[in-house]
Amino acid sequence: MKKYMIPTKKLNNGFEMPVLGLGTWLVGGDKLRNPNNDDLANVKGIKKAIEMGISHIDTAENYAEGHAEKLVGQAIKGFDRKKLFITSKVDKRNLAYNDLLIACKKSLERLKTSYLDLYLIHSPNDEIPIDETFRAIDELVNKGLVKNIGVSNFKTKRLASIQNKTKNKIVTNQVYYNLIIREPEIDGLVEYCQDQDIFLTTYRPLELGNLFIAPIIKELSDKYGKTPFQIAINWLVSQDKILTITKMLRIEHIKENLGALNWQMENRDIEKLRIKFPGQKEKSDILPLK
Ligand SMILES: NC(=O)c1ccc[n+]([C@@H]2O[C@H](COP(=O)([O-])OP(=O)(O)OC[C@H]3O[C@@H](n4cnc5c(N)ncnc54)[C@H](OP(=O)(O)O)[C@@H]3O)[C@@H](O)[C@H]2O)c1
Repeated sequence: MKKYMIPTKKLNNGFEMPVLGLGTWLVGGDKLRNPNNDDLANVKGIKKAIEMGISHIDTAENYAEGHAEKLVGQAIKGFDRKKLFITSKVDKRNLAYNDLLIACKKSLERLKTSYLDLYLIHSPNDEIPIDETFRAIDELVNKGLVKNIGVSNFKTKRLASIQNKTKNKIVTNQVYYNLIIREPEIDGLVEYCQDQDIFLTTYRPLELGNLFIAPIIKELSDKYGKTPFQIAINWLVSQDKILTITKMLRIEHIKENLGALNWQMENRDIEKLRIKFPGQKEKSDILPLK
């Protein structure tokens, strides 16, 4: 099986992440665990992705009630842990000091790993003081249970207001952004992250596989000799400080998406897609799991 090279990007402090990672939403179920889910097929798909070059795996404690983390744990067994980059997220209901420490411990147990490469606040919660949340997260970093920290679904103003509430650098904000969904552009988040040296990890780059293949995509597919979905992924990762994660468990999808890397879209085409891609919306009608 061909092993692909996945490029990485670096922040000024030397922190490095692969430009494309594997998502695990709908692995093991939806919000709830699906007792009829084909767990073996999910584990096989994750293993295949790693064998083909994926190192970054994104999961969360609330995907399938923790079952997604368990299946990731089964899949990574047997691989060199140091070569993997595992991200998990703490649910917004668990942002109080003790709850967060317990949540992280449980994630580590389900993943059968002694540390997370990256731990994200899944989404903000105004009910719990952020200082308390970061006190717990900073403690996890001090203990070596979490190597890096970040947030998810934070708008620009909120991100700007919390950066100095932790002793650690916020290395990423994981948000919904693709050719259709443009909230991070409209909100100024893309520019803010580029300016502040923070990765913008974009989720749902393929709009769940339903990306509209507009004529402008066809035109660029022909120009670069790439498929429309490769164009959609490359449009994101060709932009400064932007990374992405997509769920892909079918081998033909993994191959296609890994073929979206290692080439740079010209700036004028990035801007053309930014302006001319039809059907753009600020937000999605599909509710992301937050
Ligand atoms: N932080 C948050 O709040 C948040 C919210 C949503 C998602 N996420 C994370 O981001 C990850 C990615 O987002 P997502 O899974 O929602 O959406 P996505 O990556 O845009 O779409 C995944 C779907 O697209 C299919 N697919 C993948 N590559 C394809 C290709 N080349 N051609 C056709 N179909 C293709 C996959 O099928 P197969 O699996 O069958 O290959 C899967 O059904 C999630 O899995 C999750 O880890 C985070």
